[in-house]
Amino acid sequence: MSRTRLPAFFAVLFASVLVLMPARAQTFTVTSPDGANEVAFTLRDGVPYYTVARFGRPLVTPSRMGFVLRDAPPLDRNFTVAASAETSFDETWTQPWGEKKDIRNHYRELRIDLETRDEAPRRMAVVFRVFDDGVGFRYEWPEQPNLDAFEIMDEVTEFTLAGDPEAWWIPAFRRNRYEYRYTKSPTTAIDTVHTPVTFETADGLFMSLHEAALTDFSSMALRRTGGTTLKAELFPWSDGVKVKARAPHVSPWRTLQIADDAGGLITSYLILNLNEPNRLGDVSWVKPGKYVGIWWEMHLGLKTWASGPKHGATTERAKQYIDFAARHGFDGVLVEGWNVGWDGDWTQNGDKFRFTTPYPDFDIEALSRYAAERGVSLIGHHETGAGVENYERQMEDAFAYYEKLGIHIVKTGYVGWGNTSIFRTGADGKKHGEWHHGQYMVRHYRKVIEAAARHHIMLDVHEPIKDTGIRRTYPNMMTREGARGQEYNATWGDGNTPAYTTILPFTRLLAGPFDFTPGIFHLEDDGTEPMNKVPTTLAKQLALYVVIYSPLQMAADLPENYEEHPDAFRFIEDVPTDWEDTRVLHARIGDYVTIVRKERGGEDWFLGSITDEWGRVLRAPLSFLDPDRKYVAEIYRDGPKADWRTNRMDLDITQALVDQATVFTLRLAPGGGQAVRFRPASDEEARSLPSYRE
Ligand code: NOJ
Repeated sequence: MSRTRLPAFFAVLFASVLVLMPARAQTFTVTSPDGANEVAFTLRDGVPYYTVARFGRPLVTPSRMGFVLRDAPPLDRNFTVAASAETSFDETWTQPWGEKKDIRNHYRELRIDLETRDEAPRRMAVVFRVFDDGVGFRYEWPEQPNLDAFEIMDEVTEFTLAGDPEAWWIPAFRRNRYEYRYTKSPTTAIDTVHTPVTFETADGLFMSLHEAALTDFSSMALRRTGGTTLKAELFPWSDGVKVKARAPHVSPWRTLQIADDAGGLITSYLILNLNEPNRLGDVSWVKPGKYVGIWWEMHLGLKTWASGPKHGATTERAKQYIDFAARHGFDGVLVEGWNVGWDGDWTQNGDKFRFTTPYPDFDIEALSRYAAERGVSLIGHHETGAGVENYERQMEDAFAYYEKLGIHIVKTGYVGWGNTSIFRTGADGKKHGEWHHGQYMVRHYRKVIEAAARHHIMLDVHEPIKDTGIRRTYPNMMTREGARGQEYNATWGDGNTPAYTTILPFTRLLAGPFDFTPGIFHLEDDGTEPMNKVPTTLAKQLALYVVIYSPLQMAADLPENYEEHPDAFRFIEDVPTDWEDTRVLHARIGDYVTIVRKERGGEDWFLGSITDEWGRVLRAPLSFLDPDRKYVAEIYRDGPKADWRTNRMDLDITQALVDQATVFTLRLAPGGGQAVRFRPASDEEARSLPSYRE
């Protein structure tokens, strides 16, 4: 036998051994209701794996599942299948508020009950739900004699992606939480990333990995362990344990949203569907709305949160905002820097915050009355400076105080510099640094939601835990930050790029609403706001109200800057924050996106279209409009000279008659956008207004 033929001989021998002695594998499959997505679960020699495919095309190739425990054998091997069951589910539920009113929750479920082959067998179930728009799976630990309290040291779950898809990602385990610019790279070039992380395969399929119903667990980042294998990387407690649990317990759902075009990710409600229904009962007190506030002037460095000559939160200034809000139909006025604790370096001294003690120049009682008389209410602010124990001690009183004052919305904040900047007093009496994303904080954020709900308070959380669809269960959890907001375009930030907001709808916004705070009108560099670096045209600021979904939307600029542009401001006055339906007309991640939404309980449609640093001309058929009806299109578009580098303020406002057959032309300037309100035309308008022409 020649040397070259030797490997071939062994290959044949090896293959026949495999045929003669197949690995002991059991496979179970389940498909989505439309048959397109398929999950296969395989137990091979006691080790669990899963795969995901669409129309037979692999998306996730065999990937490990399970957990490593402390002081106990791991739960990722040595299993047998004790039972399996397939069921299906189909219901339509109604959101109390949201980007779409009625949501269909339609899936097939495969439950595999696993049991370890130990002397003292332990049980763990793996549950897959397969939807037309993706897959969710989670682990369940039922009550059982051989597993009571347990500590997870590592999650083994892998996502081994087929091919080497392009990925849009932000880094995880960094000091600035989720506040990073997105990078686009092949999967093989990523390191450790936060979710949602979104992929485009070589053959044009889109997928986003995230989690749903993060309830009593640590949050999941993804670490590339080699090739295209991404492994769950849970944020640890300060003692190194990733999750502390007691059976019965469940993990969050690991989610894979799948779509044939990028816009399909935006209209996937899989994450909400994997959350529990509303647990708060009557939530008629939860109301979407718009607000202004004493905020941007601090970020511009014109005023301070701290007391002193430049203190922003004064009674007089708050009255100006309340008057402005009342004149223009806003629901709330946020006031930051109103309470004792901001003096000195508050980012290092969270324990100094007092949540029921206003600064002397802020008469909160008189202002609450003043606001109520004008049909407006104050929006409270609780910056904790990462002093979580200090906050938890005062939280109940703080919410009761606001409730008494008629304040129904509270913005919270957790600024703290460094990776593990949340200090917790351990059983040893010492301070231990925790991550914002670990189980300790997941529990904290949940406690805040529950305490707020007891006082009929809605929440807008900054420096939050990432959104995993909890708003379905707790509808008072309205909106949050959890990404670089508008504030990065001010004093201390390094500016968002024009492309940034064209990536958000396909990444961060898949998790849920974002309090981005759009609407900056002072965009020209006239020397009065040297710290203002907003990289968009004025039309794009308006379009963001439709593109970035948030049930609480801020008009972030100063009243004086709005008063100078009443015509453009009209769009912010008109745009709602609660929607019947959402559709995506154009979608290219990082390039451009056009979204239309129908007002909840009304007949109007609103369109927002934005582009990156390049100008574009996009055609938008208005087929979403009701047939047999004429609409007035109120158009706010980039003027001929508009350009985010040279002429941000060039805005054309015009009106035209349109109907379902009209094809709109969206001419977007570099760094620009377009906002349109479509409202049913009166008979008089239908007779007199000109029809739309490009
Ligand atoms: C960071 C928040 O994102 C911002 O909105 C707030 O003004 C500051 N922290 C101060 O609380």
